[in-house]
Amino acid sequence: MDIRVPLSGLDYGPEEEDAVINVVRSRWLTMGSVTQEFENQFAHFVSAKHAFAVSNCTDALHLACLAAGLKTGDEVIAPALTFVASTNSVLYTGAEVRFADIIGPSNLNISPEEIEKQITPRTKALIVVHYGGFPCQMNEILEIAKRHNLMLIEDAAHAPGASLQGRALGTWGDMGCFSFFSNKNLATGEGGMLVTNRDDIAEQVRLLRSHGMTTLTMDRHLGHAYTYDVIALGHNYRIDEIRSALGLAQLQKLPAGNARRQVITEMYRKGLNQAGYGIDVPFLDSPGQSSYHIFPMLLPEEINRQNFMQEMRKSGIQTSIHYPPVHHFSYYSQRFPGISLPKTESVAAREVTLPLFPGMSDEDVHYVLTAIHSIISMMKNKGL
Ligand SMILES: Cc1ncc(COP(=O)(O)O)c(C=O)c1O
Repeated sequence: MDIRVPLSGLDYGPEEEDAVINVVRSRWLTMGSVTQEFENQFAHFVSAKHAFAVSNCTDALHLACLAAGLKTGDEVIAPALTFVASTNSVLYTGAEVRFADIIGPSNLNISPEEIEKQITPRTKALIVVHYGGFPCQMNEILEIAKRHNLMLIEDAAHAPGASLQGRALGTWGDMGCFSFFSNKNLATGEGGMLVTNRDDIAEQVRLLRSHGMTTLTMDRHLGHAYTYDVIALGHNYRIDEIRSALGLAQLQKLPAGNARRQVITEMYRKGLNQAGYGIDVPFLDSPGQSSYHIFPMLLPEEINRQNFMQEMRKSGIQTSIHYPPVHHFSYYSQRFPGISLPKTESVAAREVTLPLFPGMSDEDVHYVLTAIHSIISMMKNKGL
């Protein structure tokens, strides 16, 4: 069967088309006024002092690790129930990762108690991931970071528009990193943003994003500078004007998109709760405001996940897994052998992500719920 309900879908229209055409007509493609405007509006949106648009969130995380001063011999505590970029960014610097377990099936975020257990004299930073846009326990985590003098980096890839106690996720720690990959709440294809309230970090990020150069092409174009020096070993992690223009158009749509995601999430929660199939739905009592980036559910243990996902696919419904835990990937298990994270592993084995995007109709949601109901009943009857 053709795909009837995809996992995610872009909320793109004439606004994005016009945005791209305007950049093409401007004949200025990289790091110009559109990027500056995107950074200003994003900084305002999350109430951060500085925002740096970059080529993707992986690069934002790498810049964050560099600005945190990470180097060989240092350790960083991070979750394993995340996309591999969260921890790859640490390894790029020569530092090592220590994985901390999650809270449990009702909250898939990193556990503050488990963070404490992983702290050693080498620990320099914490990377926390707001899974699905649901806030980590930031008060407790901030307190740990302060007590142990650790840099706090928020992987807010899922969390544009999410907040806790009225404070935007991504602005609780020293740095927050957002993703604008195609399937994210704010999508530009590739793209990301690093935000910080710290001037010293902002200065480093500004340099390291663009080869450690003291001036940028735009400065020279505008006659503000004629040459440049290179004062640090930086990277080319710049974004371009086309994607910044897409970002600006998408930023306008983000609050309404997140609100629609919340409505769909509530419909799923209600439908799954009423059915009573033994499916667990995480984050039911999550504090703060989520961005509802994805809808994770945990299958009953006796249901074979692969068969379930195949049956869903036969009904035209795309599903996914968030995440195969990082410490189980070959590269990581060879580099960090013998890691045991019981809660992460148990959740990761049962998790299935359902379609969720603002363009989903109520009918689509009911179609997915009905399919889940009949597939689980069929599988339970047949003992699959
Ligand atoms: C939790 C998390 N962190 C980091 C990333 C990396 O983002 P990007 O693809 O923009 O590099 C992703 C992307 O999927 C993610 O989900």
